[in-house]
Amino acid sequence: MRRPIVAGNWKMHGSRAENARLIEEIAAGFPERPAAACIVCPPFVYLQEVGRLLRDAELDSQIELGAQDCCAEAQGAYTGEVSAAMLRDVGCTYVIVGHSERRTLYGEDDQLVARKFAAAQSKGLVPILCVGEQLSEREAGLTNQVVGRQLDAVLELCGADAFAGAVIAYEPVWAIGTGRNATPEQAQEVHAFIRGRIGARNARIAAETRILYGGSVKAGNAAELFAMPDVDGGLIGGASLKAEEFLAILGAARS
Ligand code: PGA
Repeated sequence: MRRPIVAGNWKMHGSRAENARLIEEIAAGFPERPAAACIVCPPFVYLQEVGRLLRDAELDSQIELGAQDCCAEAQGAYTGEVSAAMLRDVGCTYVIVGHSERRTLYGEDDQLVARKFAAAQSKGLVPILCVGEQLSEREAGLTNQVVGRQLDAVLELCGADAFAGAVIAYEPVWAIGTGRNATPEQAQEVHAFIRGRIGARNARIAAETRILYGGSVKAGNAAELFAMPDVDGGLIGGASLKAEEFLAILGAARS
């Protein structure tokens, strides 16, 4: 039984005042027994304070804290970087690795992403590994090849066992922030492919791995996406910054 996850990726948005307001609004409407696990991923500088806001709102047992990235190295002279151990230290349990914005805007390749995945796990964080194809790759019929390559980098470095307890987010790049989500059928097809790729190495772990869909998820399309058999919730960008939308998406998840 895979409990779904609804995770909010705040990206580079927010301020201390806006974060406080958002958490207050989420707290006001938070369901008593959500069907899905809930995570918020604020920018690094706000992690600790958002953790405190969640505790103050008595939501810390209901909403977990995730970071948006981590360094592949454990510690040392890496100016500007943040290690997995530091994220644990400030209360994170999850970390997104390999988001397409990191891959395309900051040149992160599959091998670096795999090393980040390993670094996160070695410090007890649950990595949320993002994979997904560009529009041109989909149009060229290369979706499975691209997603397969992104997954294989992690499988080769860490092995299939590393996916026990890990989370994958399928995020077609053409659907991120565009308002154009994948159809439920398109998402299901790739999710099944991802599960099969892991299953070829370890069927039990593949059956347990949660695979989230990300890319223009909103209150209006979440239920139909989450209803697909291999879609175990969502990684939500823009809509996670509006309490009402985020709560509606959380409510769309079913165990
Ligand atoms: P979006 O972003 O929901 O704004 O499309 C999703 C993501 O990048 O994780």
